[in-house]
Amino acid sequence: MTTWAGGIILSSEFVLSKYGDSLANKTILITGVANDSIAGELAVQISAYKPSLVILTARSEARVEPVVAKIKSKNPDVSVRFLKLDLSDLKDVRRAVKDLSDVPKIDHFVAVAGVMVPPFAKTADGLESQFGVNYLANFLLVKELLPKIRAAGPKSSIVICSSSAVRRGQVHFDDINYSDGETYDPLDAYGQSNAARTIFALFLGEKLKGEGIRVFSVDPGAVQTGLQRHFGGEFLAQIQVLRKSTEPLRDLDGRPYNMPNFTGTSEGASTLITAMVDPTIEEAHGAFLHQNAPAEDHLTSHILNRDNWTKLWELSEKLIGEPFTI
Ligand SMILES: NC(=O)c1ccc[n+]([C@@H]2O[C@H](COP(=O)([O-])OP(=O)(O)OC[C@H]3O[C@@H](n4cnc5c(N)ncnc54)[C@H](OP(=O)(O)O)[C@@H]3O)[C@@H](O)[C@H]2O)c1
Repeated sequence: MTTWAGGIILSSEFVLSKYGDSLANKTILITGVANDSIAGELAVQISAYKPSLVILTARSEARVEPVVAKIKSKNPDVSVRFLKLDLSDLKDVRRAVKDLSDVPKIDHFVAVAGVMVPPFAKTADGLESQFGVNYLANFLLVKELLPKIRAAGPKSSIVICSSSAVRRGQVHFDDINYSDGETYDPLDAYGQSNAARTIFALFLGEKLKGEGIRVFSVDPGAVQTGLQRHFGGEFLAQIQVLRKSTEPLRDLDGRPYNMPNFTGTSEGASTLITAMVDPTIEEAHGAFLHQNAPAEDHLTSHILNRDNWTKLWELSEKLIGEPFTI
């Protein structure tokens, strides 16, 4: 059994100083880019390492503009392209991929966009919004982008942002939509979407192992970003109680764990960079990364249950209305 490093979270600058040179001349697509988001920090950090093209997605170009300005001030030579993409509409995902028809290959696809504990809402396709935006849109995006990622060859990567919420998250196969909102619990639904993201990466990593495409899901740690915009007073009070409690949190299997402490955005982006380029973790296809290292011990029996991998894949194919065969 391999023992991985981990233990503290590294800065993006540190990870890039070791492995960033491999990003030269690469095409990198990042979702969820905004000035105050983890993806925005990631885009600025990696752009210093001379990628040939960085494609930044957001729902509106205005969200990306300050990030582009920062990138250009670090590296005026890098080509940056805005791609409009609304993950709450599968039609828009398909449209956005068509807009990339002139891009022959994508070396790194990093799916960072996400939403946390919003009031109940449904996507254009009728799904609870966190499941739809955080997970299902990425299933379709990966399916549609795979030919371009394959064209980039071995050592290309598919990185799916996830969260420590996987510890309590489970996919409610019998009721993904919380009885059309009637039984909606925002935090449980955030956990569900992250369990789905991590199960997807585990199965995808296994399916793509023979092709040498790196696949990981990533817990970026806790960072103050736009993600906290839906935290209401009641939710924050709940968190305060948990933080002050001497009782540890318990995962779905009853194992104790601690709530993560906040770090800066550089630390928040660093494990995503590890997933993209750290050669020392290559053999851990599909793994969930925490603090720059694989962390299988963070995964519950629900997530490691292979029947759930198959169930989720089949459900996702049904929801996007087409097979995704690898
Ligand atoms: N921050 C943390 O502590 C933390 C911890 C664990 C995991 N994560 C994960 O990290 C990822 C990034 O979060 P963050 O902290 O950087 O949050 P953030 O600042 O809110 O960034 C999320 C990004 O996703 C975009 N987004 C939301 N809904 C979208 C949609 N329907 N279509 C397209 N884009 C959409 C947002 O765009 P708009 O600006 O237009 O809304 C925003 O740019 C998330 O997936 C989150 O689950 C974060």
